[in-house]
Amino acid sequence: MKIRQLLTDKVQQAMLAVQIPAEFGPHIALSKQAQFGDYQANGILGAAKKLKTNPRALAEQVIEQLDLSDIASKIEVAGPGFINIFLAETWLSEQLNHHLADPRKSVENTDKPDVCVVDYSSPNLAKEMHVGHLRSTIIGDAVVRALEFQGHNVIRQNHMGDWGTQFGMLIAHLEEKLEGNSVAEVALADLENFYREAKKRFDDDEAFANKSRDYVVKLQSGNERCLELWQEFINISVSHSEAVYKKLNVTLTRDDIKPESAYNDKLAGVIRDLQQKGLAVEDQGAQVVFLDELAKKDGEPSVVIVQKSGGGYLYATTDLAAAEYRSKSLNADRCLYFIDARQSLHMQQVFTVARKAGFVNPDISLEHHAFGTMMGEDGKPFKTRSGDTVKLTDLLDESVARAKTLIAERATDLSEQEQTEIAQKVGIGAVKFADLSKHRTSDYIFSWKSMLSFEGATAPYLQYAYTRVRSIFAKAGIDPVSLTAGIHIEAEQERALAIKLLQFEDYLTQVTKEAHPHVLCAYLYELASVFMSFYEACPILKSDVNETDKQSRLGLSLWTAQVMQLGLDVLGIETMERM
Ligand code: ARG
Repeated sequence: MKIRQLLTDKVQQAMLAVQIPAEFGPHIALSKQAQFGDYQANGILGAAKKLKTNPRALAEQVIEQLDLSDIASKIEVAGPGFINIFLAETWLSEQLNHHLADPRKSVENTDKPDVCVVDYSSPNLAKEMHVGHLRSTIIGDAVVRALEFQGHNVIRQNHMGDWGTQFGMLIAHLEEKLEGNSVAEVALADLENFYREAKKRFDDDEAFANKSRDYVVKLQSGNERCLELWQEFINISVSHSEAVYKKLNVTLTRDDIKPESAYNDKLAGVIRDLQQKGLAVEDQGAQVVFLDELAKKDGEPSVVIVQKSGGGYLYATTDLAAAEYRSKSLNADRCLYFIDARQSLHMQQVFTVARKAGFVNPDISLEHHAFGTMMGEDGKPFKTRSGDTVKLTDLLDESVARAKTLIAERATDLSEQEQTEIAQKVGIGAVKFADLSKHRTSDYIFSWKSMLSFEGATAPYLQYAYTRVRSIFAKAGIDPVSLTAGIHIEAEQERALAIKLLQFEDYLTQVTKEAHPHVLCAYLYELASVFMSFYEACPILKSDVNETDKQSRLGLSLWTAQVMQLGLDVLGIETMERM
């Protein structure tokens, strides 16, 4: 249910009817306290100020025109000119009953699907994926799932870093290792190690360093042997990433990879276009774009180097080619980039140049959804004890192992096999939820203890809450499919639960519009708490509960389980029937 949208439309109509110009929106918000109703329209106040009229009187006029007959049970003017809206129990139960068997739980498929090109994960292939790629991967994947659930047309773009000077050094090292007959897979089993070895040789051995530089040139000029080695290296590195995606339960596949090298043959054209449009100019042998619109405080324009003096291209050049491809070939309405906040200036520069040069269609929405850094409990960027970067695959294995121990401590009648499966879902879910539940832009502290806790806003708590709701049906011996639409709302806790359930779509829309999965995390946690209060106040299976109430409360429980499952699924977190 798009409750917020529905109320916005209705109040807006009433505002227009009393001659308030359309530029003043109703500003529908959730009420903070029950006495102020369920929703408030706060926009009349601002409109009255601008129109120099009495806000309370204006609000009264709006209410007179406001047709919420079956939706609201009470509408009143409050404070200096707010409108409080109390939803009607009959309307709430009607909605719930109508969608009892609906697998989407009333979430609509959008009638205006956007083509959304989503750039996420995008690791550099020279090294193994590390925790820095975790955030991009899981936040991006949650938003992708939410967009698809609402019916948008999503094109994933894994902009992997597979090109650049370091590959000269890596393939030179690989070639020598292969002469010693070790198959590439063995040599590259530990990419991190391999990179370190190569780097050490590069730093210590002048001949090797020269050969590496020579290989960069050869690679760029299309030398077959070098390309073969490079391809071999890339294939193995990609399969490392794929293993991580599989473990993480993210939806990226090989088909979603559109790596940096895919744009190589477009880069010369990018420079030519920029020159022709007078945007790129020569500066100390390099090709540079000066951007006044991003000038620093001292008035100096922002500098974007698009080609080095030696002729080499840069990260920004590739991103310009990618932006053009996404807009002109993929026909994107929205381009969403999930990249570390430290690349904010880079993204702004790319967006500004792309627009000025006409590489993108003018009405495209270019969005950098930045995120903060994952910190260790010492408050410094997350590292191993010895100060190395933490491999993502190791971190995930550790989480599953820790979950396994916790599950074993709690388990009563679960087989070893079941415990292993549950630990998998809990361990991965815990890492994801801990990350997704934080405000995207802030740094956060990674803590095993809090993320694996069965209390508070965590994956294990929510996964367990889900199994508990489901277990009501097992205990009652009732197949949820057989439930009839008999929900009716009496108790205040039933009312609170009904509203929460019908708000799912409002929160989902916040995820797709603002790319903020944390609002969905908070919603699911609140839903679990509201359900607990309902469950305590409104017994279901006690012998003195009459059949009508029992059916109604089972209906509410079914709705709850399904919304929880849909919501967790959007976050990429799996549920199970028992744990
Ligand atoms: N490979 C880059 C990194 O690891 C991220 C790429 C993000 N996407 C982009 N279009 N620039 O920092």
